[in-house]
Amino acid sequence: MARPGMRTVWDAAAVSEEVERYVGARATGRSELESLFGRLGGDPRKGTCVEVGCGFGRMTAALAERFDRVLALDVSPAMLDAARAAVSAPNVEFLVISGERLDGVEDAAADTLVSYLVLQHLPTRGTILGQLAEFGRVLAPGGQAFVQLPVLRPGVHPRLWRFARAAAVPFVSLLSRRLTSRPEYRGYRLTEVELAGGLARAGLRVAARDEAEPSPYRFSREVFLRLERA
Ligand SMILES: C[S@@+](CC[C@H](N)C(=O)[O-])C[C@H]1O[C@@H](n2cnc3c(N)ncnc32)[C@H](O)[C@@H]1O
Repeated sequence: MARPGMRTVWDAAAVSEEVERYVGARATGRSELESLFGRLGGDPRKGTCVEVGCGFGRMTAALAERFDRVLALDVSPAMLDAARAAVSAPNVEFLVISGERLDGVEDAAADTLVSYLVLQHLPTRGTILGQLAEFGRVLAPGGQAFVQLPVLRPGVHPRLWRFARAAAVPFVSLLSRRLTSRPEYRGYRLTEVELAGGLARAGLRVAARDEAEPSPYRFSREVFLRLERA
């Protein structure tokens, strides 16, 4: 079962007139995908690609051109409805997942995995680490995962900010009706140490890493990783 908030928040985002504000601009999906691969020195093609958190399919059609098969997963059935309407490629299968596991994806099934603008929204440390463990489970030997996420900067102030934010977000969420106030939108930030531990437990190693400056995230770096099985 999904943590109910993840599905509720993203279903509401999918049918909102402001969906591109929540998900990303439709027009730049393809170039953002090329940039993700390029900055990590990758140009993956062929085989099976697992796209985690496909949204309304901003990147899915471009993935379908590169790979023999695309499994496009999302926690939100409404996002998947929008993606199905936007992407007609016959080599794409859309799957609704619980949000904590990559349900329906077999072990070692992914030659390539893409997770972009997704981990930043997961509401707890455990949910993010659980997703990383799932990336390790589904990645094939020799496969590559292309992952974007914010990582908390070192130091006392970022730690204090994370602590205060974790306390404030659920409270503010009760008072506000905005989607962007919900814990399932605001997400959680791992430290570098937590990320390294999570990757090690997932059986993954960093094959390439890049960062974007300036970072769009408060007190956090925007990190791009190409991961392989350790
Ligand atoms: C900001 S959008 C990005 C979508 C897509 N990756 C893109 O760049 O266009 C985040 C997506 O992640 C999905 N999502 C949120 N939590 C998720 C989870 N726990 N598991 C899978 N998908 C999730 C949302 O439903 C939403 O479609």
